[in-house]
Amino acid sequence: MSKIHAAITAVNGYVPDYILTNQELETMVETNDEWITTRTGIKERRLLKGEGLGTSDMAVPAVEGLLKKRGISAEEIDLIIFCTVTPDLTFPATANILAHKIGAKNAWGYDLQAACSGFVFGLATGAQFIESGKHKKVLVVGGDKMSSIINYEDRATCIIFGDGCGCALLEPNEDGYGIMDSVLKSDGSGAQLLYQKAGGSVRPASHETVANKEHYAYQEGQAVFKFAVTNMADVAAEVMERNSLTADDIAWLVPHQANKRIIDATANRTGVSADKVIVNIQRYGNTTNGTIPLCLWEWESKFKKGDNLILAAFGGGFTWGSIYLKWAYNS
Ligand code: UT7
Repeated sequence: MSKIHAAITAVNGYVPDYILTNQELETMVETNDEWITTRTGIKERRLLKGEGLGTSDMAVPAVEGLLKKRGISAEEIDLIIFCTVTPDLTFPATANILAHKIGAKNAWGYDLQAACSGFVFGLATGAQFIESGKHKKVLVVGGDKMSSIINYEDRATCIIFGDGCGCALLEPNEDGYGIMDSVLKSDGSGAQLLYQKAGGSVRPASHETVANKEHYAYQEGQAVFKFAVTNMADVAAEVMERNSLTADDIAWLVPHQANKRIIDATANRTGVSADKVIVNIQRYGNTTNGTIPLCLWEWESKFKKGDNLILAAFGGGFTWGSIYLKWAYNS
């Protein structure tokens, strides 16, 4: 029997309606459109507005759309891996909340937290359950309501992040399509350069942590940038080299959308030309776990069966990783 690969067989995405433009940010913090555009590539981002709405509320329409596209019911899903840093609640897992909301009665699930690399780690993890033969349908969701942990008085972070959610279905493929390889890395020495200071077991929520604004995302941008710009590029190059792939072999580079300059550095390092690099950061900003699945969703109609894709991400932790996959269908 030929090897079972985990192939993506459907993708979908959801972004909220509200658009926060650079112009509106100019009225909120000391910044300007020119600075944001040249330093990050971002023009606007989406925010999930409304009382009582969390990350799962973006996942529901994304997943329901995916199921419709694939023509399957929620009850056919075996496993849900929900990649997020903004779960609905600390516990239980948002994967369980989502399963209940969509009626995935036969699925088990869990949340995966690897900051902006979460979706790449989630695909690589989900692939194991397919390759082992244990599961036939694994749903990997990547999404964040970053606006729930952003301080809109902090120009170092509020200009970057946005809300959004995407998802991909993994199924077995014995014809040589699907996830071929991955390189996954982490380094905890970078933990305090991009993190949420309070709310965990070390520093539980208190009047003091709230007063000190410690429940917001904190980032030392320049330090993170230095790590991101080399590591995301290196890991993409590594997965290509060890699979003997040159830039000409790559149909699409799908980078995490943190900063256009980091995306460009990854493209340069891998030699992939700009027309093959997926970029939507100008419209959505950094949606953390949502960036890569949102890119897959928006470019799905351009992908052809057999296309070689390189996914690459870098995030807090630090975490970083890259996946080489052969696209499995024409849409
Ligand atoms: O996705 C997970 C991983 N995260 C990342 O990959 C993000 C990595 N970091 C970055 O993308 C960039 O570091 C930022 C976009 C966050 C910041 O860009 P930068 O080029 O590193 O700017 P900087 O922090 O070095 O600041 C440069 C200047 C400073 O002014 P002075 O000291 O040179 O006078 C800042 O005070 O720009 C100033 N500045 C701003 N000006 C206008 C910082 N933020 C802003 C702002 N608007 N929003």
